[in-house]
Amino acid sequence: AVERTLSIIKPDAVAKNVIGKIYSRFEKAGLNILGAKMLHLSQEKAEGFYAEHKGRPFFEDLVAFMTSGPVVVSVLEGENAVAAHRELMGATNPKEAAPGTIRADFAQTIDENAVHGSDSPASAAREVAYFFQDGEICPRTR
Ligand code: CMP
Repeated sequence: AVERTLSIIKPDAVAKNVIGKIYSRFEKAGLNILGAKMLHLSQEKAEGFYAEHKGRPFFEDLVAFMTSGPVVVSVLEGENAVAAHRELMGATNPKEAAPGTIRADFAQTIDENAVHGSDSPASAAREVAYFFQDGEICPRTR
């Protein structure tokens, strides 16, 4: 089925100037970018996004990292988009990510792992709505 998913290009990847390389992988895989914005997350916005991880030992470092510089948040659409995007990203820990994946190619550590992607259609719906108003998402017309 055609799905939507939320992508975040994290501060480490933005700092490395690989936004375009990552977008290129989405486009080559047939994922359409329907919404995009650059944001510098506040502490509150980052904590809210990762609320499910509150209490985990890495939570504070995660929020500090995600607020350390700008990010690019995007809405991607395509056949099986949630799984297709996760396949492009590779494993959460770059050291375990398959060769040729975004995390294998652009990240070194689990804390600074270049990208985030929704892990299910239900979290995709929640995460897209967390960053985008309906009017900020532009369905393809051609
Ligand atoms: P992300 O997909 O953005 O979701 C939560 C993030 O926490 C994850 O990517 C990692 O960058 C980071 N993180 C750090 N340590 C861990 C861990 N042990 N398990 C899962 N995520 C972790």
